[in-house]
Amino acid sequence: MNKKITIAIDGYSSTGKSTVAKELAKALEYIYVDSGAMYRAVTLYAMQNDFVGSSFFNDESLINKLNEIQLHFQLNAKTANADMYLNGENVEKEIRTLEVSNLVSKVSANSDVRKKLVAIQKEMGKNKGVVMDGRDIGTVVFKDAELKIFMNASADTRAERRYKELTDKGENVSYEEILKNVVERDQMDTSRKDSPLVKASDAIEIDNSNLTRKEQFDKILSLVKDKLN
Ligand code: DC
Repeated sequence: MNKKITIAIDGYSSTGKSTVAKELAKALEYIYVDSGAMYRAVTLYAMQNDFVGSSFFNDESLINKLNEIQLHFQLNAKTANADMYLNGENVEKEIRTLEVSNLVSKVSANSDVRKKLVAIQKEMGKNKGVVMDGRDIGTVVFKDAELKIFMNASADTRAERRYKELTDKGENVSYEEILKNVVERDQMDTSRKDSPLVKASDAIEIDNSNLTRKEQFDKILSLVKDKLN
């Protein structure tokens, strides 16, 4: 398979986008980019500098410092995944906490933040052979992607998955607060002015509430093969 395409995977939070995107990238020997990790890293930076909290967002201060935020992914030999680095520091663990999840929609609604991250994402995918997941990949970042997937699942299914993921990692969280976060993030991500989460007109929607991980992977892989042939 010499022809390389661009695969955009968008959808609501905790729909398993990154799981399937990683599996696909591995099978196809493509680059996987978790765009949400980048928004999470900028949010962590804003939290560390007291620019954002549950009741405030000092967006001007963050924008003034945007040039000082360096982001890069680096392969973790132990997990075989690419970890997120913020100004040279591995922040993979910190960006997955519920605290960051609760603030990331606020920060990612900012147009200057989006402009900076979209430019980096476009650069990462310029040679194709990339699987990127997020909220605006098929609508903004790679409007010309050959394959666009829009993933969905019921809020309960998604909250259960996220609850299991976080408690497995040892985080002390309740199912109710996770469900609240999932619903609130959906609301903010779909209603923001700049690049709201919306299904691209040429995206294929997959509801995975009742699909196993393998069924979902096989389904998307067959869509990829159709595009490659
Ligand atoms: O994929 P995720 O749940 O880790 O993303 C975290 C947040 O980042 C999500 O709630 C909205 C924002 N995001 C975005 O606005 N655009 C993207 N392309 C990816 C994520």
